[in-house]
Amino acid sequence: MRCLHSVAVPLLLAARICLAQSQDVQPCNGHVELCSRAYSNVSYACTHNAYSYPPPNDVFVVNQRRPIKQQLEDGVRALMLDVVRPGVSSTKGGNLLDTIISWFSKKPSGDGAADPLDSVHLCHGSCDYIDKGKLVDALVVIREFLDANPREVVTLIVENVSGFSAQDLRPSFEAAGASKYAFVPEFSPSPAQNGYPWPTLSQMIDKNQRLVVFIDDKADPSQVPYILPEWGYVVEIPYANIAPVAAFPCNQDRPKDGIPRDLIVMNHFAYNRVSIGKENIDTPLSAGQIKSAGYNSVDSLAAHVNTCRATWGDRVLNFVTLDYYDVGDGAIFKIVDQINGVAT
Ligand SMILES: *[C@@H]1O[C@H](CO)[C@@H](O)[C@H](O)[C@H]1NC(C)=O
Ligand SMILES: *[C@@H]1O[C@H](CO)[C@@H](O)[C@H](O)[C@H]1NC(C)=O
Repeated sequence: MRCLHSVAVPLLLAARICLAQSQDVQPCNGHVELCSRAYSNVSYACTHNAYSYPPPNDVFVVNQRRPIKQQLEDGVRALMLDVVRPGVSSTKGGNLLDTIISWFSKKPSGDGAADPLDSVHLCHGSCDYIDKGKLVDALVVIREFLDANPREVVTLIVENVSGFSAQDLRPSFEAAGASKYAFVPEFSPSPAQNGYPWPTLSQMIDKNQRLVVFIDDKADPSQVPYILPEWGYVVEIPYANIAPVAAFPCNQDRPKDGIPRDLIVMNHFAYNRVSIGKENIDTPLSAGQIKSAGYNSVDSLAAHVNTCRATWGDRVLNFVTLDYYDVGDGAIFKIVDQINGVAT
């Protein structure tokens, strides 16, 4: 911190000068250059199914190796999370994986736990294969990171697998103390406004609204203003890429209306596909498979960014999303820095 102290300046004024200067030189998400950029004009390292790390080790629904706390400490700034009611299979399912999982179901199905905190877990499709515990507990970890890192902005992209209402999810955010950091937009995005005029990172940091929460299925901002409808703000490019992937695509996949939004999710991961008759079972690649395929390398990511230029021009690719982000010697962070035009 550079503070200019002068005997000629009254103490109060000196304190103000000092504060103004320290704001200018402090970084936002690690870089001073990002402070003046709109949230929507910044790229963030993102983990696909951030909660789906061992244990257990031997299941085919694991996407990461490191826990959420370490992901955040490593520099991941956006986390994809699936919220599921334990004891109930996916309402979105309908795929063979879910059917097979329910065959092996160890728990009786029912309405799940009644307690609003107990009933929202982080699971992959069903809680019978991997159950990483309550959403509230993960939100405590995220809130503690925000407490300890007051100049960092973090995003959650939640998949509402069990069809929770916004009111079902609110208690987890409140009990974790995470809602106090949640970003609340002042109005809904609209074509007239050209989307939503996102604040800069430093404005979000000054307001201490440093947690942006999107959910993929009909959010209800009139009930819970900080759980934002993903498709009001975000587009995703295809995620169901089947290995081997020669070139990752970058066309708008969701929403299907082809209308651009403020933010772009650049999914850069692949699945193993096993077909049984007409049914397909898609499971994440292992860390070893990703490494040997080179998907998480700088070259593979840079080639994808290049493909994206054809669709998105100069627009920033906001959420660079990987499985096993720790494979690839930090390439995800190099690419994000490159997109942001900052030094690594
Ligand atoms: C995004 O940030 C870059 C770098 O500061 C700037 O040149 C560009 O105009 C910004 N784009 C938008 C849409 O604000
Ligand atoms: C979750 O999905 C269900 C089913 O589509 C929907 O009724 C509910 O409003 C969604 N909740 C949130 C918070 O988006």
